[in-house]
Amino acid sequence: MSDSSERTPTIATIDEIRDSFPALRRNQGSRTVGYFDAPGGTQVPAAVAEAVAQQMLHHNANAHWAFETSRELDEVIAASRSALADFLGGDEDEVVLGPNMTTLTFHVARALGRTWEAGDEVVVTELDHQANVSPWRDLEVERGVVVRTVPLVAETGDLDWADFEKALSSRTRLVAATAASNALGTIVDLERVRRLASSAGALLFVDAVHFAPHERIDVSSIGCDFLACSPYKFYGPHVGVLWGREALLREVLPPKLAPAPDAPPERWETGTLNHEGIAGAGAAVDYLASLGTESCRKERLDAVFAQLSRRGEALITRMWAGLAAIPGVTLYGPPPGHPRTPTLALTIDGLAPALAAAQLSADWGLFLSHGNFYASLVTERLGLEPQGLLRAGCACYTTDEEVGRLVAAVGQLAAPG
Ligand SMILES: Cc1ncc(COP(=O)(O)O)c(C=O)c1O
Repeated sequence: MSDSSERTPTIATIDEIRDSFPALRRNQGSRTVGYFDAPGGTQVPAAVAEAVAQQMLHHNANAHWAFETSRELDEVIAASRSALADFLGGDEDEVVLGPNMTTLTFHVARALGRTWEAGDEVVVTELDHQANVSPWRDLEVERGVVVRTVPLVAETGDLDWADFEKALSSRTRLVAATAASNALGTIVDLERVRRLASSAGALLFVDAVHFAPHERIDVSSIGCDFLACSPYKFYGPHVGVLWGREALLREVLPPKLAPAPDAPPERWETGTLNHEGIAGAGAAVDYLASLGTESCRKERLDAVFAQLSRRGEALITRMWAGLAAIPGVTLYGPPPGHPRTPTLALTIDGLAPALAAAQLSADWGLFLSHGNFYASLVTERLGLEPQGLLRAGCACYTTDEEVGRLVAAVGQLAAPG
């Protein structure tokens, strides 16, 4: 064994991983389906679906009552909160559960907006999904808040850092930034964002939805105040998760029903939660941790993400090189070697993204998404509205063969006949 492989933690092989996902056995014609739609939502391992079913079949009750099934549900929610706290690097009392990232972000914006005055400012970025833009923009109407937008540099897929500095002022109350772009795959330098936000005395809200399946999150090293993600992007069900700094969750009063619990994190949770989805979200974290061998969950997650990140880099390097060599194909975002996720956006000359996606599915069994993915400031900046982009996203189950098949298929689409 070489020195570098001795330092590389052992995690499950790609074949072992693929065995856990029943959906990966699906065929289209003579081909096994290649799922490149992960940035829109990943497939689910059997263990996660079983946790959802277990919750619904055996522990179905509402929370906080004095009988068995209700107590069991309370335990399931506590266990998921604990798993998600390990996933995010925070404390379980800081983990707020909700329907999806978008709704949670609207909720935080509304709560914080109540504490702001007309003329207070929020900074958003063009790299962001609208879920981290529209909730802040709504405060322009509701509170007279001024929203400043940091532009994206089309050529690099990165933010314009000089403009970022200019967007800040003594009135900036919050910076809303993505950890990674769901359209271009850019990983944003959050350390730099945090320094800028701190220099203005502003809070930092991070959208980690696209980042979460690819890289290890640690809210304390990011130094943010809020961070939101969506378990359905990391092999779980359709629920949303918000981490908030404990003091803020305690001090800020969100809209809530009068009799609902008043202590964080529950004071931030509205209505009856999606109990089975939450059970599955905890199971998704445990599934990821189960790919590693270390003794404690946090360390297993460290090792697993270190390896998944490496595997993703190898896949995107191959995909980028193959697609870049095809005449008539344009690739967007940072090339491999720059901080990025294994998500690649492209266009094919003379072929609308929707049509390309339909042909890739029908003829090659490859499932890719198309459009703006609600990252509409990105496609506007690139001049690609209304048709948008074709997007190939890798997940922990993506194989070299699938990447090779994608490159061959795009080669044929770009040069038919
Ligand atoms: C980067 C990013 N942020 C936010 C969202 C919205 O997440 P949710 O569907 O949980 O509201 C998405 C969904 O695609 C996303 O990719």
